[in-house]
Amino acid sequence: MEISWHTKTFSLLFFFIFSRLAPSKACHPVDKEALLDFKHRITDDPSKLLLSWTASSDCCTSWEGVACDASGRVVDVSRPGLVSDNDFVEDTYMSGTLSPSLGNLSSLQLLDLSNLKDLKGPIPQELGKLTKLTHLFLNTNKLTGAIPITLSIPQSIGGLAALELLYLNQNHLTGRIPSTISGLGSMIFCRLSENKLSGSLPPSIGLLSKIQRLILENNKLTGKLPSALPPQLGKLKSLQTLDLSYNPLGLVRIPDWFRELRVFRLMLAKTGIEGELPHWLSSSSISQLDFRPSPVEFKNLSLLMDLDIHSNKFSGRLNVIFSKEVQDPLGHFNSIDLSSNIFTGPVDDDMGERPAMASISSLILSHNPFRGPLPKSVGKLRELQVLKLVNTGLSGNIPVELGDARELSTVLLSKNKLTGAIPETLLNLKELKQFDVSSNKLRGRIPPHKAILPVSAFKNNPGLCGPPLPPCKRI
Ligand SMILES: *[C@@H]1O[C@H](CO)[C@@H](O)[C@H](O)[C@H]1NC(C)=O
Ligand SMILES: *[C@@H]1O[C@H](CO)[C@@H](O)[C@H](O)[C@H]1NC(C)=O
Repeated sequence: MEISWHTKTFSLLFFFIFSRLAPSKACHPVDKEALLDFKHRITDDPSKLLLSWTASSDCCTSWEGVACDASGRVVDVSRPGLVSDNDFVEDTYMSGTLSPSLGNLSSLQLLDLSNLKDLKGPIPQELGKLTKLTHLFLNTNKLTGAIPITLSIPQSIGGLAALELLYLNQNHLTGRIPSTISGLGSMIFCRLSENKLSGSLPPSIGLLSKIQRLILENNKLTGKLPSALPPQLGKLKSLQTLDLSYNPLGLVRIPDWFRELRVFRLMLAKTGIEGELPHWLSSSSISQLDFRPSPVEFKNLSLLMDLDIHSNKFSGRLNVIFSKEVQDPLGHFNSIDLSSNIFTGPVDDDMGERPAMASISSLILSHNPFRGPLPKSVGKLRELQVLKLVNTGLSGNIPVELGDARELSTVLLSKNKLTGAIPETLLNLKELKQFDVSSNKLRGRIPPHKAILPVSAFKNNPGLCGPPLPPCKRI
């Protein structure tokens, strides 16, 4: 173990020092040959990303996007289609297929061919020979076929045992996530989202002991009841982000072993969950009538900061969420999206005073049957920028205190039963850009305001008048 640690430190040193200095030796002929073969299979390079890659020049010193170590071996191939610097974003393209010869770059540590939009065909099995590879970015292309099993099988030929970052998102990949994925034992970030991966998550995923982000949203992952997900996932102690949204997992409910996770981001939209949130998702002080076996107090998700469970069939009261525990200074909500569920209300009066809510910037609660008033305490959410409560049955006045939430830039309150006048302070918030109170029962003159708001923002309130609506009648 010690030896491999040293080896890694050593190669990282090479990566950061020698790869950025002129190498002492010319480009290794095997590497040059492999890269020229890669170029050969690129059918269109409209952005001229490979223009400098010529047979007559040295690939270590003259080729853009290629870096070598001191012995002339290529360690870094980076020709992504989207490059952003502080002031500009360059969006470039490339068409063609991935050459199996890339597998001959035996010292390669970083391969970034992401965002080229038009790389097609399969991921070559030969990439599994790149035993030193730590970063593989092939996202945002049109790659097809399955994730090659060779990437994760540690045979004599290799397996990407050193791989830390794997981005294959936004392609057309099909098939299952191979059960050999556990061979990628160094993996920290794994993005396989926006593909057509199917089947269930292999239990061996629980062996990825270093994984911090596992992003699998927008695939066709399915499961078998009662546990659509392997409980081994609960062993991932380093996991910070788990995104399974938009997969037909048929979860029905959040598995109890989820409480063992210490995630910051838990994304479960459109995974089939229905019913009440489990007790452990809330603070232990909540007394919710739920007779599910062994409701465990929720300590672990006290680090949770972003909760997105929109478009499920969750029911129950919101305070389960608002009164979540925190681990100061961590665990305060950054965003909540509970839209399109069947949570019931009223929205708790003290929600703006709950510690977990203190620094929330986005609160999206639209399309739930809350009823009752919008609590005054919302005005205490001093970092709130986005508030969406469309079609939630809210009634009563828009509290004047909402104008105290100075950072608000988006306020959508349409399709409710709100009455009374629009508070002047709210409409004159400095950051306000998007505002919609259409289809309510609001009355009176629309307060003068600087933001340019369309007529549609106020329509279907028979009692409202004044610009941008027709003028108020003098009585
Ligand atoms: C890559 O290596 C394989 C096996 O050693 C060899 O057959 C092939 O010609 C090499 N490709 C290039 C382009 O050099
Ligand atoms: C989760 O909470 C339970 C009960 O409080 C505790 O026993 C367990 O160690 C926690 N898990 C982690 C990963 O912290």
